[in-house]
Amino acid sequence: MIRRIACLCALAAGAGCDWMPGKPVAPEVDRGNPTSVHGFEPLWATNCQGCHGADGTWGPARPLNDPLYQSLVTDQWLRTTISDGIAGTLMPPHAVQNGGWMTDDQIDEIVSGMRAAWAATPPPYAADSPPIIHWSGQAGDAARGRTTFNTYCSECHGEDGVGATAGSPIDSSYLALASDQAIRAAIVCGRPDLGMPDWHGNLNGAPAPQFKGLTPLTEGQVADLLAWITSHRVEFPGQPYPPTGNNEPGFRPSPKTPETEGLTHG
Ligand code: HEC
Ligand code: HEC
Repeated sequence: MIRRIACLCALAAGAGCDWMPGKPVAPEVDRGNPTSVHGFEPLWATNCQGCHGADGTWGPARPLNDPLYQSLVTDQWLRTTISDGIAGTLMPPHAVQNGGWMTDDQIDEIVSGMRAAWAATPPPYAADSPPIIHWSGQAGDAARGRTTFNTYCSECHGEDGVGATAGSPIDSSYLALASDQAIRAAIVCGRPDLGMPDWHGNLNGAPAPQFKGLTPLTEGQVADLLAWITSHRVEFPGQPYPPTGNNEPGFRPSPKTPETEGLTHG
């Protein structure tokens, strides 16, 4: 009997004192080592789907399941983008050596998986496309870009890009989120998922009426458009804020004024 009580006490002490505040507990689900996941579908689902959509579309970035886009970028471009991410945007670096959790082999699997799933036959004019990769040597002329914009783009995006049936590509908040690369890719490939024609004037295989009578965009015109659109980047995007007194939902004007806060001389 005494021995049994001693045993129970030892058990209770063991159970009661093992846990200390702050001591890590075992995770409820063992997710394993991310570098040991293989196969396009699980790799895509764990690393990319949350931002790029289950089938490569309807993400915050351009659709990756677009055959025109897939035909214009090389495997090396895809590998570098996935490995290094796109600086200044939400596209994170994925390679282990860059702080991510994908090995080079896994990145190769994603690239070949995207090719197998989404690289359908591109349109015949794909080979004549202006460059889709942006680099700093492609300086365009913003003034010419504005004229080109008002000829090719204003029917959907409004005169001078203020927005019409489609939104404003010169909006400072949009420009704060999208890289020059993303904007170039949009001009060249369009947004087939959202209704924007490609550089050749086609939308999902059919000529877009907005491009009727216009020649396909040239390399120079793409550079000019990019120069004009990105000339609207500002240091503090989203401003000016709505004036005080605006009663829109979500906007709470401060009852304080610069004078009462001692921020001005009055
Ligand atoms: C946290 C969100 C996020 C995740 C996760 C993410 N991406 Fe992205 N990705 C983005 C954004 C945002 C962009 C557009 C960035 C820009 O403005 O250039 C982008 C751009 C891209 C591009 C386009 C590059 C080009 O040619 O312009 C590719 C390709 C890409 N991502 C592939 C992937 C793959 C593959 C994965 C998974 C391994 C992945 N992304 C995971 C957000 C994400
Ligand atoms: C047929 C209508 C149409 C035409 C013409 C058009 N767009 Fe668009 N564009 C859209 C739609 C729709 C979107 C999706 C976003 C939205 O609705 O605002 C879009 C999106 C964009 C974006 C953002 C894409 C992204 O993924 O970040 C840019 C930049 C853009 N357009 C530039 C242009 C330029 C430059 C031209 C002229 C060469 C042009 N667009 C012509 C309809 C059009």
